[in-house]
Amino acid sequence: MSRRVHVLLAVLWSAAVVAALSAQAASPPDARIDDLIASMSVEEKLGQLQQLAGGAEGNYLPEQAELARKGLLGSVLNVRGAERVNTLQRMAMESRLKIPILFAFDVIHGYRTVFPIPLGESASWDPAAAERSAAIAAREAGAVGLKWTFAPMVDIARDPRWGRISEGAGEDTFLGIAFARARVRGFQGDDISRPDRVAACTKHFVGYGAAEGGRDYNTTDISEQVLREVYLPPFKAGIDAGAVTVMSAFNDLNGVPTSANPFTLTTILRGEWKFDGVVVSDYESVSQLVNHRIAAGDADAARQALTAGVDMEMVSRTYVTHGAELLKRGAWTMAQVDEAVRRILRLKTRLGLFERPYADPALEKTTLLTPEHARAAREIAARSMVLLKNEPGVLPLSKDTRSIAVIGPLGDDPVNMMGNWIGDGRKEDVVTLVAGLKAAAPAAHVTFAKGCDITGTSREGFDEAVRVARAADVVVLAIGEGEIMSGEAASRATLDLPGGQLDLVKAVVGAGRPVVAVLFNGRPLAIGDLVDAVPSVVEAWFPGTQGGAAISDVLFGDVNPGGKLPATFPRAVGQVPIYYNHKSSGRPAAPDNRYTSKYVDMPVTPLFPFGFGLSYTSFTVTDLQLSASTIRRDGQLRASVALRNTGPRAGDEVVQLYIQDVASSVTRPVRELRGFERVSLAPGASRRVEFLLTPAQLGFHNRDMQFVVEPGAFKVWVGTSSVGGLEGSFTVTE
Ligand code: GLC
Repeated sequence: MSRRVHVLLAVLWSAAVVAALSAQAASPPDARIDDLIASMSVEEKLGQLQQLAGGAEGNYLPEQAELARKGLLGSVLNVRGAERVNTLQRMAMESRLKIPILFAFDVIHGYRTVFPIPLGESASWDPAAAERSAAIAAREAGAVGLKWTFAPMVDIARDPRWGRISEGAGEDTFLGIAFARARVRGFQGDDISRPDRVAACTKHFVGYGAAEGGRDYNTTDISEQVLREVYLPPFKAGIDAGAVTVMSAFNDLNGVPTSANPFTLTTILRGEWKFDGVVVSDYESVSQLVNHRIAAGDADAARQALTAGVDMEMVSRTYVTHGAELLKRGAWTMAQVDEAVRRILRLKTRLGLFERPYADPALEKTTLLTPEHARAAREIAARSMVLLKNEPGVLPLSKDTRSIAVIGPLGDDPVNMMGNWIGDGRKEDVVTLVAGLKAAAPAAHVTFAKGCDITGTSREGFDEAVRVARAADVVVLAIGEGEIMSGEAASRATLDLPGGQLDLVKAVVGAGRPVVAVLFNGRPLAIGDLVDAVPSVVEAWFPGTQGGAAISDVLFGDVNPGGKLPATFPRAVGQVPIYYNHKSSGRPAAPDNRYTSKYVDMPVTPLFPFGFGLSYTSFTVTDLQLSASTIRRDGQLRASVALRNTGPRAGDEVVQLYIQDVASSVTRPVRELRGFERVSLAPGASRRVEFLLTPAQLGFHNRDMQFVVEPGAFKVWVGTSSVGGLEGSFTVTE
């Protein structure tokens, strides 16, 4: 074809596009999107399905600039900073079709202001706190040009060997639902196009936390009944709360990897839940289908993933590399590709990117780590802490204490204080435990001795630690895991205090001074020896930027700890998986009967149960009242108790309601959390705490996978942990 004809065609094509684009201005988003799709080349469509990763420090790569100029880059991960985002965005906005790039980053528990790790924040049993921190994270992320976070992680985790238990809300579905909703609302608000809101992403869909052996990325084999009862509901809750994206996962689920699983990605997500948002793969999880050995090569991986329902491919490039060929040979249809493109363009429309593609550099200077954000981080971190043990007279400490020795590898460690997935948190902003104590008790002489490393068995620092302990009025131990020991690719085969820390504890206790232990960890730990060795233990998780200040607030009693465990603490790793809402078995463990389900060398009970946490005051729960003794299965039941603060100081208690379906067509857990409320009471004050039980809380999936409420007897307990509580009962009739 002659050059002249080429030029003429190009002019005609561009005129057609300009006409289409100008017509779009007035037309509603979907029509505008359809027009846009109609004008896109195959290469441009495939480009929208691609997310590439920028540099870890936040800049884009030269190739990405090239792709942006050609309008061939749908999304980038890790690129942030208003100026850099705008520079790359401008290239896309000057491309032929002017389709904006979607900028994503893992803002998991804060961007510059780092909040407690999600497992820690979930220990607050205060979803409003999670919504508040997610909203602050979104505000800071938006200020640096981000419009998509890969959070909340809503995987239920019953195995603390799995390092990613740190990223979610623990072992219970009901608690997980509450935090999934709250975090989605916090990130997205009511209008994701606002500059202070970002698209949320419920991940990792689905069942990732059930990895065999607690080993990350490992196989999962989950019955459909357990999938629907335990692992799917927090995703549904996040989507019902408005989550506009979902991330598929790495794990093989019952023989079909979740990034190529039509049952989860299409039948459930699209068919049952009517989700119309975007599904993004996890990092190279599409190309990893070859490692799973269900794809003969990248082209087959691409074929399966898009067909199953993965719209956007993260980092691996099978879609853009093989898409044209797959279309040519009919392995993909253009309708499939167009539907994925449509979802992505619709998301960009909802985010307001077509109208406002650029970040405001001025916002970046005024939005990060403001005093308000720092205050929130300190308050939420303190609310996340769990008092595991406190012998009389130890905690809270007096601010008149003359000398305080902080001993342990996490006592003055700004990096580990934040945990992992810290966004752009900076160690120079962190308040360490030493700094927090000094600020809280300026008259006290605060000394520090590391004593030992987090891992390793060297005892070289022990003598110095013991000397420093002997010279102090009280010792605060700062021990636990390094942040690198939980999170992604951080499974552990043991759950002990790492390295020689327990030996350090015993040496320091031997110095004869009062000792308090502060624990920093990303998972439940088997810390029975530690608990036996010291009179007081505070679970601080990885508390974030304001961690040291928050811990000091708790140690001095400025905040009375009210957190509760979101996951069971085992006595030993050999008990794992161990979780409160387990089944009865045909031979429930009975101490006096050998032939029952138990161990010969250890009790079956945990070290600390789900929902457990102490306080500096005391509470009573009395007078359980049920609104009826019988309800129809479409009825409702109110349960209430009287909560009283019977101790010397104001404090919070988390009142928890559990049910048991006494006999059902499918075996049910011995207990299931179905209500909770964190209540603050002054000394001597009391109030009634009320819960509403509806069919949604009483039902389950039967053998035919139908959600049903079956007639029969139910037990109910209301208390302050998953053990004990006031017991009642009621009957459900037809
Ligand atoms: C990682 C994680 C996922 C994260 C993504 C992007 O491998 O599995 O949680 O959002 O890649 O960083």
